[in-house]
Amino acid sequence: MARILITSALPYINGVKHLGNLAGSMLPADVYARFQRLSGHDVLYICATDEHGTPAELAAASEDKDVRTYCDEQHDIQRAAGEGYGLSYDYFGRTSNTPNIELTQHFAAVLEEKGLIEERVEHQVFSIDDDRFLPDRYVEGTCPHCGFERARGDQCDNCGRLLEPTDLKEPYSKISGSKNLEVRETAHLHLLQTKMEDKIRAWVDASDGWPSLAKSIAYKWLDEGLRDRSITRDLKWGVPVAKDGTPREGFETKVFYVWFDAPIGYVGATREWADATGNDWESWWRTDKGAQDVTYVQFMGKDNVAFHTVSFPATILGSEEPWKTVDRLKAFNWLTWYGGKFSTSEKRGVFMDQALDLLPGDYWRWYLTANAPEGSDSAFTWEHFQSLINTDLANVLGNYVNRILRFNKSRFDGVVPEGGEWGADEDWLASELEARLKDAATHFEAMEFRKAAGEVRAIWALGNEYLTRAEPWTKFKADPSAAAIGVRTALNYMTVMAKIAQPIIPDAAKTILDALGVADDERTWPACDVCEMLTALPLGQAVEPPEVLFKKIEDTDVEAWSERFGGAE
Ligand code: 2FM
Ligand code: ZN
Repeated sequence: MARILITSALPYINGVKHLGNLAGSMLPADVYARFQRLSGHDVLYICATDEHGTPAELAAASEDKDVRTYCDEQHDIQRAAGEGYGLSYDYFGRTSNTPNIELTQHFAAVLEEKGLIEERVEHQVFSIDDDRFLPDRYVEGTCPHCGFERARGDQCDNCGRLLEPTDLKEPYSKISGSKNLEVRETAHLHLLQTKMEDKIRAWVDASDGWPSLAKSIAYKWLDEGLRDRSITRDLKWGVPVAKDGTPREGFETKVFYVWFDAPIGYVGATREWADATGNDWESWWRTDKGAQDVTYVQFMGKDNVAFHTVSFPATILGSEEPWKTVDRLKAFNWLTWYGGKFSTSEKRGVFMDQALDLLPGDYWRWYLTANAPEGSDSAFTWEHFQSLINTDLANVLGNYVNRILRFNKSRFDGVVPEGGEWGADEDWLASELEARLKDAATHFEAMEFRKAAGEVRAIWALGNEYLTRAEPWTKFKADPSAAAIGVRTALNYMTVMAKIAQPIIPDAAKTILDALGVADDERTWPACDVCEMLTALPLGQAVEPPEVLFKKIEDTDVEAWSERFGGAE
């Protein structure tokens, strides 16, 4: 039994996430965690809300709430949304909780002891009317290169040039619109990444469990040369710059930068889990305390890769303490909305909570896994969603389950029927299944989610093909026992169809396994002898048709949803 630590990128606290966020980190992490648990491994899947930073402060202010109250509420909303999709976190923590605060302060202290942190004075834009320093992207003004009037302090969206806030003409605060700005001096802690370049490069060179997307992003950053980076900010909401409860002199009104404390939140949330359950967190994170046996797998969107392959490793490796580092990193491209960006203001795209009002979690889980943005970006469209759900879930899987269980109810009293002989059709089914099952397991193991869903679909389709060969409905009249072997094999095959569906569509799989009376401890990944699998259900066991598993998506649904959330032009 392997020990597998899984984390998915921590969602920002401000606002429920859209389907693209779900598709590119939390959902695949969950599918993988479920697959590994079903395969008998000891899995710890950790996530948390990423709560610090200016956007959280501003979102709280816009709702007239103090930021703690706002984060409490949003954390609960995101937890509930995750539950609606069956995300099976072992713990869903918070970066604003004590374990993360203590760990962040610990890392900063150790990095300073190692000579990797330095205090430096910077010049930053201060908004007198907002009474705060403005992060670069909260200063806007006229681009000195192209004259665009809403250029941001870090970049002009019109001509694409990188900017410093002090380059802008007619600068104003994006928060209040105030032009009452001045440049002030402010001291910040800097992490000396330049001193760690060789160490990080050697670590990246030695990492072999990363797909090419992740590795190429890491090398791009390393090849451009790492820069020392400021790890503190002039903000109220965040991890205080303090040591053993005492604020650092001159840093009383400053906090650590959100991207410094957020990845430490993986460890922090594991400590929360340990505190809540009486488990040991160090055996998952400290290689001197058992974590040398752990395989650590991270899931994230491509915009997060540099932070996980360079910045966070700089913190961990810089500490020279025996922390576990990532073994396998799965990065995703973007899920687009009809090829463009999701945008609330322009009514383009569906958010996690809204989607659940339309259809249960399994529909979305199937679509987003089968259409995962792996090799390239992939586009969500209602039309494609409708076609995938109606074909794969309603027809290929749903109809199979429905047809066999209803036929069995009417012809064999709703119990696994006796009689008939295993023959050529069953041999054919067993040999086809054997090969496909191995491929499905390989794809899940390799975190190739589109391929895994494709193989699951192919195994479902094989069941339908078997029915076409075995034809129990036509055989029943002349030879009920020939029909019995067909139905019995089809029922046993249905247990396999459901077991392999569990990582992707856990609720529907459970409904099927309940209907077939499969015991909880038998709901594992099917890995035994195939002929055994296809003869496992006890003769005479009652099996009940469930309610309709998946309803079809109608053209009228597509029209109504396109109207509400945006669709084809
Ligand atoms: O990009 C994001 O959504 C970040 N909140 C991800 C943080 S991942 C981890 F480092 F905390
Ligand atoms: Zn410009």
